[in-house]
Amino acid sequence: MDSDVLISTTQGGTPAVVAIDPVLDGDWWRTAVIYQVYVRSFADGSGDGTGDLAGVRSRLPYLAQLGVDALWFNPWYPSPLADGGYDVEDYRAIHPMFGSLAEAEALIGEARALGIRTIIDVVPNHISHQHPWFQEALAAGPGSPERERFWFHDGRGAHGETMPTDWVSSFQGPTWTRVTEPDGTPGQWYLHLFTPEQPDLNWNHPDVRTEHEDVLRFWFDRGVAGVRIDSAALPIKDPTLPQLPLDPGPGEHPHVDRDEIHDIYRSWRAVADSYEEPRVLVGEVWLEDSARFARYLRPDEMHTAFNFALMTQPWDAAAMKASITRTLAEHAPVGAPATWVLSNHDITRPVTRYGREDTGFAFDRKRFGTPTDLDVGTRRARAAALLTAALPGSLYVYQGDELGLPEVELPLDAIEDPMHFRSGGVDPGRDGCRVPLPWTKDGASHGFGDGDALPWLPQPRGWGDLAVSEQADRPDSMLTLYRAALARRRTDPDLRIGRLQWVDAGDHVIAFRRGDRLLSLTNLGSEPMALPDHRGIVLASNPLVHGALPSDCTVWLDVEPGAHSA
Ligand code: GLC
Repeated sequence: MDSDVLISTTQGGTPAVVAIDPVLDGDWWRTAVIYQVYVRSFADGSGDGTGDLAGVRSRLPYLAQLGVDALWFNPWYPSPLADGGYDVEDYRAIHPMFGSLAEAEALIGEARALGIRTIIDVVPNHISHQHPWFQEALAAGPGSPERERFWFHDGRGAHGETMPTDWVSSFQGPTWTRVTEPDGTPGQWYLHLFTPEQPDLNWNHPDVRTEHEDVLRFWFDRGVAGVRIDSAALPIKDPTLPQLPLDPGPGEHPHVDRDEIHDIYRSWRAVADSYEEPRVLVGEVWLEDSARFARYLRPDEMHTAFNFALMTQPWDAAAMKASITRTLAEHAPVGAPATWVLSNHDITRPVTRYGREDTGFAFDRKRFGTPTDLDVGTRRARAAALLTAALPGSLYVYQGDELGLPEVELPLDAIEDPMHFRSGGVDPGRDGCRVPLPWTKDGASHGFGDGDALPWLPQPRGWGDLAVSEQADRPDSMLTLYRAALARRRTDPDLRIGRLQWVDAGDHVIAFRRGDRLLSLTNLGSEPMALPDHRGIVLASNPLVHGALPSDCTVWLDVEPGAHSA
């Protein structure tokens, strides 16, 4: 494909060079800035050390001022929290520690009144072992209809003592657990691609399909604008339960990206499209194969899917530019907008990652005690924030990245994440990016809650210096940078919907124009670079030095219309 990417405000229509009104425009999701709220760690309204909906409601003005178009909430349902809420016990209620359904409804309405939409998490691959369906299946015994909603299977071996397949969990370790039958004998095994507390659902069962569509309607009827679909490539399994092939071709893996999966999302899309303002489907699709990835984004399936490719790249201009180009190219044929993601609740925080020797990201490379230079990391995270905010498509901001929070190395006894335990304690897990936000310099929880309660995960020394109160009025803070970038993106049609055209500015620079007048330059080289001709400086991630763009810095320039064309 050529390097020009046209972003239009209407599917198939003429690109309009007008500012989009995110409230009125049905295609708001094509260019939206979506802020991810990990409720447990965002703000604690009840003062018990755990974040909640009251906390989020009290901070809506902060989110409006930050300039976001939508909030994505990690699962907020009743759950034993074996995997931070990705083990859902009841989809039609709110976890009591977060609040009530009435509060969720109020929150959705209050946010919308501020022009902010709400996206919630749906987890189709599995539910909690405490969900009534699973409890009924355990009680009903082998061969029962209740067990057919899951993947219960006899074991191999003379006494069924060997698990049915050798599939390996994304969380490491086995994917099957043997149950004790109601009569007390060792019995069948059930499949769980994640922890044993997250039994996989059988999507060949009609109940599983109708239940999920009903859950979608339940929340869409309450004003939710869309859903983020967890582990979206996993729900369909090969019912013959084969062992893992050595090198499975496209669609041949027994539990990843099976062809039949698309029927599910086509049905969901029909539900989403049946609303006056169509609801939006956002998939968590981790797939290397771009063509297979794009299939999820066909016009009758999901609207967007997370693009994790850029986030996993090392801090290197060629690698990052190639990743951006690939992403734009893979989205173009299906007409879906790209998404830009620097982190989320599963990923090492950018300021920590970019300050390490290994600046890329991979789950299996996470270790305790990996050194980092936070000054370098913060500089690069600032540059990355402006770079991604200048790219065409929608942008995700994970709570706390706008404050430049680092990954926290938690004391062992504070860690709850099953990824840590299932790695045999080798992987620190993901709680280090889930530490409660600091709102004020002082206080028992740095303003996370009002009272004396300590937060559910300990905040490290120095956390208060990164508080919202400390950054709000400082011109050089990360928060000020995010606010300025998002404000510009909101009001500058070039930046939001202008086409992207690559500009050659040397091997160590990522340079492109958006629309007629905006030029974005990110210098990943070790030397400062002289700025090309420009009319003005719109925004820079760090101060320029004698008019040059320093290393690890992004600048947005206002240029003559059409200048610096490739
Ligand atoms: C997704 C979530 C992650 C969760 C997993 C299992 O990858 O982002 O937090 O542990 O799915 O539901």
